[in-house]
Amino acid sequence: MGYDFVVSGRIWSKGNFLDGEIAVKDGIIQEVKPHINFIHKIDFGNKVILPAGIDMHVHFREPGMTYKETIESGSISAIYGGLSTYVDMPNNVPPTSSIDAIQDKLSIMEKHSYADYGVYAFIGGKGVVKKLSVYVDAFKIYLAPSTGNIVLNNPEDLKEISIELADSKKFCVVHAEDSASFGPFKEHTLEGYSAYRSCQSEKVAIEKILSLYSDSFHIAHVSCPSNADLLKGKSFEVTPHHLLLNYNMPLGTFGKVNPPLRSEHDRDLLMEKFVNNEIPILASDHAPHSLEDKDVPFDKAPSGIPGVETTYPLFVNLAKKSKVPLEVLINALCINPARKFGINGGLIEKSKEASFAVFDLHQAKTIKGKHLHGKSEWSPFEGFEAIFPTDVFIRGIHVIKNGFVNANHSGKRISKI
Ligand code: NCD
Ligand code: ZN
Ligand code: ZN
Repeated sequence: MGYDFVVSGRIWSKGNFLDGEIAVKDGIIQEVKPHINFIHKIDFGNKVILPAGIDMHVHFREPGMTYKETIESGSISAIYGGLSTYVDMPNNVPPTSSIDAIQDKLSIMEKHSYADYGVYAFIGGKGVVKKLSVYVDAFKIYLAPSTGNIVLNNPEDLKEISIELADSKKFCVVHAEDSASFGPFKEHTLEGYSAYRSCQSEKVAIEKILSLYSDSFHIAHVSCPSNADLLKGKSFEVTPHHLLLNYNMPLGTFGKVNPPLRSEHDRDLLMEKFVNNEIPILASDHAPHSLEDKDVPFDKAPSGIPGVETTYPLFVNLAKKSKVPLEVLINALCINPARKFGINGGLIEKSKEASFAVFDLHQAKTIKGKHLHGKSEWSPFEGFEAIFPTDVFIRGIHVIKNGFVNANHSGKRISKI
């Protein structure tokens, strides 16, 4: 058979490991079998081959704040983290909320992205969905201020927006915090920040969305276990930082994020739900800020922490240690986001895109912010153990080879409109 190449290793396919081989042609998986007759094989031996990850929540800051991150630096960081695809949020300068702004961002991505990409447009009021839906992959609404300060002008418009979304067949990610429910900001610490932007304020915002009885919404970065319970059966995501960090850790402003880090008890309960497969999606909410931007008094520091490169490696390490079932991780970082965006990936099976990441489970490393490839050069997970991929393929392109970038701006848009 005329394949382009065949890889061998321990392949995660159909929910199990298969010691076998994957044949690839034109970027598509042709066969997954114990043995394939072919001369040109890339033999990964004992390494595991997992579907590449899909991160549906990143802020690559271009245009507008390119000293914090660019499409190029963010997407290089993504592929070093075993991802094939990211979807970029609209809180840029200017915000991605017009046809021109969307097209500008897409043309930067086409020239500079190393990973496959999609874009969100932000909804500031009625009429936006109708106007922009053919240009974007999905939408974003902020119910409370976060970086960029682009809050939905009039929350009364939500009902109308949900009807527009249903007509457009596009969905909308919601930053669910209710600013009217914020408490007083007394203690300028991570714990004080959590008391201020509380679980209650997250709950009020989520209930607002649930009261619309619409399937067009997806709740971003749910931070409290009780709120994850409210969302049973709905589309929502959690972040690695809410699963792994708490407000008692000595992170200072480097742990300041919206919604805030919670108590160790809440973190533990949220992780338990993740492990039990009760949370459909894991997304980084990669929100980089420079060291200088963050190294200021607590109330002056911007919210947001980087994570696109560390998500998959942190969780592959937890899977190796049997703390998170691999199946749960693949559901949350590969299969479910692929379904949400209609991407023909997320699985290593015949006729899917040949996008996979290769991990040597015997090579755990300690995360060091300055060794990561994004621009911020710090990580709230400094010192955590992680397993980074040695090789990554996107649609058959060998973008990371033996630990180094091996492609050039070969990212493609996830959907052609
Ligand atoms: C994000 C950012 O910096 O863009 N910050 C954050 O704290 N999560 C915005 C957001 O997702 O709310
Ligand atoms: Zn947000
Ligand atoms: Zn975000």
